[in-house]
Amino acid sequence: MASLAPTTDPFDDPTPAELLAGRGNLKHHAMDGLLLDGVPLNRIADAVGTPTWVYSAGTLRSRYRALAAALKDAGLDAQPHYAVKANDHLAILATFANEGAGADVVSEGELRRALKAGIPASHIVYSGVGKSDRELRLALGEDIGQINVESAEELHMLSAIAQDMGKSARIALRVNPDVDAGGHEKISTGRATDKFGIAYDAAAALYALANTLPGIQTVGVATHIGSQILDLAPYRAAYARIAELVRTIRGMGYRVDSVDCGGGLGIPYRGEAAPSPTGLAGAIAGAFHNLDVRIALEPGRWLVGPAGVLLASVVLTKHTPSTRFVVLDAAMNDLVRPAMYDAWHGIVPVSAVDAVAPLGPCDVVGPICESGDTFARSRALPPLAPGARVALLDAGAYGAVMSSAYNARPRAAEVMVDGEQWTVIRARRTHEDLWAGEVVPAR
Ligand code: LLP
Repeated sequence: MASLAPTTDPFDDPTPAELLAGRGNLKHHAMDGLLLDGVPLNRIADAVGTPTWVYSAGTLRSRYRALAAALKDAGLDAQPHYAVKANDHLAILATFANEGAGADVVSEGELRRALKAGIPASHIVYSGVGKSDRELRLALGEDIGQINVESAEELHMLSAIAQDMGKSARIALRVNPDVDAGGHEKISTGRATDKFGIAYDAAAALYALANTLPGIQTVGVATHIGSQILDLAPYRAAYARIAELVRTIRGMGYRVDSVDCGGGLGIPYRGEAAPSPTGLAGAIAGAFHNLDVRIALEPGRWLVGPAGVLLASVVLTKHTPSTRFVVLDAAMNDLVRPAMYDAWHGIVPVSAVDAVAPLGPCDVVGPICESGDTFARSRALPPLAPGARVALLDAGAYGAVMSSAYNARPRAAEVMVDGEQWTVIRARRTHEDLWAGEVVPAR
């Protein structure tokens, strides 16, 4: 919880300099200010304006490679399926596709995006508690690798659809291991009271039933216990239960070829101790090494979070008797995580001059007409004049994908930096875009 709760003492927080020290892709240049992979963020802001999301392709690649290497070094036969929901931009998906990633999708839109970005259907896993008839038909029609079934009801629905289409659905049962992964209430998924997965005690019988249903081919079991997990203990507990289930199911005479270990690996937004892919790979190997199963993974945040920043400008600084409010041109419609989950995001000045100025407490807010439109309370930042730019860190995951046009604010531009090059990968939406498609009925 500490990782997501806002702080009240600015001097408990890492300073901007400490935040940058922990992030290899960001550094300050004495003239050019903050650089992402060597590209001055000021140059991007000058050209594209703010707010703008900026992603580092190099960081995406190096994180994917680090994860894949950790799995390999642990002796696992493992395939990462990037959780598309974390950031579904085609350029992000294509970058991972080139690295050999599969995709974990939860909607028709995500499935279509993954295919369009070049991720082979055979490397796509479909998760989610409420896949519609239409979505299941699309998944079967595209012959995707695996459908993670989340209930007996869905299993029967899928069996009927597969039969109707003359197909065989490769499925895993997503099992709820009833483990509390900690973290924010709104993103916990692995407790018995959460809506996700099949109750642990019902899973083996349902697996047996699935083996009798036409149009169903069981390939294994899956689990996913939550997100922004900063401790390996809940993973170990969940995987031990899943390994036990695999033994039980095999004891009943059924094949279990693969285990999908889900996503959830957390990142150190605020400098917290966070597990590494090596630690996660160790937890997986510890539970499954002697079971001879293929391993799948569904990482989202860990791969993309640290690869992105949200670049914003100061509109004005407002002084009240109690507080210095730094009002940005970015708002909760852009990055909703602080408002929605009390999430903590690092905020660092972009200008080299601001970077060395003395720090004082302030509240960093957006211009939207809600008190929840607050990025940070009592944060230690330098004086920031109107027009000064800041970068909100670790904004690559659950940033742009969760943005809206609330308060009729056109969605921000997106840029990808790759080496010394950078490309606008999505232009800022226009005001005309805001009402495109709207119809005023004729009287
Ligand atoms: N697999 C399944 C079935 C999931 O539901 C999720 C995330 C993932 C994988 C990827 O989890 P990750 O590795 O990214 O933690 N909007 C929230 C996070 C919601 C996560 C939902 N499910 C946030 O901004 O913190």
